[in-house]
Amino acid sequence: MHDTSSTARDRPGDHRENQITKLIDNAKAGQWQVESGIDWAIHPSPPNFLTQRFIGRALGALMAGEEATAAACKMLLADSPKSELQTLLEYQAADEDRHAKVYRTYLERVGMPPIIPDGFTEATKQLINWKGPPSGLVFAIHVVLESEALTLQHELSGDIRCPLFHEINRRVTQDEARHVAFGQLVGNSSSTKLTEEERLETVAAIKDVWDACIKALVNDNAVLWRAVKGFSERRWALQVQSLAQLGLIEPVTA
Ligand SMILES: [Fe+2]
Ligand SMILES: [Fe+2]
Repeated sequence: MHDTSSTARDRPGDHRENQITKLIDNAKAGQWQVESGIDWAIHPSPPNFLTQRFIGRALGALMAGEEATAAACKMLLADSPKSELQTLLEYQAADEDRHAKVYRTYLERVGMPPIIPDGFTEATKQLINWKGPPSGLVFAIHVVLESEALTLQHELSGDIRCPLFHEINRRVTQDEARHVAFGQLVGNSSSTKLTEEERLETVAAIKDVWDACIKALVNDNAVLWRAVKGFSERRWALQVQSLAQLGLIEPVTA
């Protein structure tokens, strides 16, 4: 049977519209509740005292990041996006609010108070008080921070041998993958609408948020900084590649 979904006769933009429709369907079907969406009967296995501080901080950072992303989605919604993008952003804001609640509940279950790393409030403030062009915010949230959150969740999943955390991670990462896909879809068309100066401003504003997040995560601890410096630089280089692929780094037209 011939697949007509991507034939040359499709109107330009059809493929993107189909992908947006699929994402909306996926978001609608993928909604879940904090109470019923997680099997809270799974017995948690908290981290040992040696790793508790780092894990508490990493989870606190994830939780605060979820809250900041929900707030940023609401800022994008206030900018009156097209109706299909509005629907996706509304689902995402609900997803992020739910993720923050799930991490908070998990920390309560394992008896660890959420530790929001010093300086993280400053980092999230930079996101909320976004200095770049308004349409550049989608790159900060959906392209860079969402994919970093996904990476951190995968890393933590390897470090935290807790079945309840793995159950939470499974649910949360399904939602996050959808948010990253949204960024890839919207990023391309957003970059073409920015001037070269606006693109440069966007990259600079994202780097400011990035540096503030890393600083907060290592809490000005020189030993911790040495441990994560190389990792952070490698991750940023990958982010620059993603931004370049979406047309944000190099001018779109010669
Ligand atoms: Fe999230
Ligand atoms: Fe997300």
